[in-house]
Amino acid sequence: MNGNDLLNIAGAATEAGAPDSWQNFPAAQQATYPDVAALQGTLEELAQLPPLGTSWEILTLRQQIAEAQRGERFLLQGGDCAETFAECNSTVITNRLKVLLQMSLIMVHGLQMPVIRIGRFAGQYAKPRSSDTETRNGVTLPSYRGDIINSPAFTEQARVPDPGRLLQAHACSSLTMNFVRALVDGGFADLHHPEYWDLGWVEHSPLAEEFRRLSEGIGRSINFMETISGKQAGNIRRVDFYTSHEALHLHYEQALTREVPRQAGHFNLSTHFPWIGMRTASLQDAHVEYMRGIQNPIGLKVGPTVEPQQLVDLLRVLNPRREAGRMVLIHRMGVGQIEARLPALIRAVQDADMPVLWISDAMHGNTESTADGIKTRRFRNIMNEMELAFEVHRDNHSRLGGVHLELTGENVTECTGGARDLVDADLRRAYKSTVDPRLNYEQALEMAMLIVRKHNQA
Ligand code: PEP
Ligand code: CO
Repeated sequence: MNGNDLLNIAGAATEAGAPDSWQNFPAAQQATYPDVAALQGTLEELAQLPPLGTSWEILTLRQQIAEAQRGERFLLQGGDCAETFAECNSTVITNRLKVLLQMSLIMVHGLQMPVIRIGRFAGQYAKPRSSDTETRNGVTLPSYRGDIINSPAFTEQARVPDPGRLLQAHACSSLTMNFVRALVDGGFADLHHPEYWDLGWVEHSPLAEEFRRLSEGIGRSINFMETISGKQAGNIRRVDFYTSHEALHLHYEQALTREVPRQAGHFNLSTHFPWIGMRTASLQDAHVEYMRGIQNPIGLKVGPTVEPQQLVDLLRVLNPRREAGRMVLIHRMGVGQIEARLPALIRAVQDADMPVLWISDAMHGNTESTADGIKTRRFRNIMNEMELAFEVHRDNHSRLGGVHLELTGENVTECTGGARDLVDADLRRAYKSTVDPRLNYEQALEMAMLIVRKHNQA
């Protein structure tokens, strides 16, 4: 179903750039709800529920992204490919936060600059799929499109889009956000106590040991400064954490797009940093129309088929006044394509004088299947694309200002390689992702260390 089929759900679309104007454009990757009246009722309910964030948090993030565009900050965006309702629990949430905090400490220390932390969480429930259907043993059903739409179980009933899931996604996002806020405000992120971030299940890991040495060293320096100055070091008991998700389910995004007092324009208050996925990023797409109407900073995935002129046209639509802090370009080329495709894009953006922050998603261009059909990514390919990203930017007088990674704090075996040199046979042992393979704890720490090395060489 495209946006046009649903024109009358929220009333006829009005002015360009209004929260419902996307309904005049073809919307790819949307679910087909059999009961449109039920969907409409749910959307009305959703539009009344409190939002998850505030406009001032969004504007602060925009400010920080503008600073990153000037080379004063580095951006770390990471989390699950897809969150699930079943994993909306304290263990999964804290473990993911611990990994992101550990990575960001490695980066702050190694890069000697502030890091913007953005979780792929509290709303990452909708997934684009390469096919509308899935066939197993001669049975064809609608594809799983993320927990906000249907369920991954391979039965007809599980795959029917259910509007009730929109409310559940909002509830799980709020619960996640609430818990993360309480943790980061309540001392969990306190640099005096990096031991709070230890993962219970990690044993005898050389990388965990390396992290412990680093964090203990930082702790000693802080104590030393506090002792000789007789004062508490500045703001080190808490950190800022922002949220992000792919703004894919446009009815959901619209229902949480609001005007706020004393600010011009509309804000998507379901998240701080929504992004446009690769499959919905063409100029004519409803997703681009929706995103140009909000005040949030936005991400745009840039894949290997994007032409330089197309990218500049998209930037003109999404950021017509060339505002700093508005655009983050997340390139995801694949290790085999980045050197051939990225330079022309960097130069086109420079020639058009568009302020952007370039960040590297070294995951999504490197997905492959093993001989027994398991979706995986090779650590070596991810690492090589990341290294090339730093080099290509440097060689083109540009700067790689951040990274976008799929990772988890759970003990999984989904990507091969890394410090433990996982092989294809290990994948069956602990493969939990319902969609894309994620870096596990050790692979994520190794990646953070590599990012520091490459950044400092570039
Ligand atoms: C993703 O980030 O999970 C994703 C689907 O990425 P892309 O749109 O770049 O393929
Ligand atoms: Co993914």
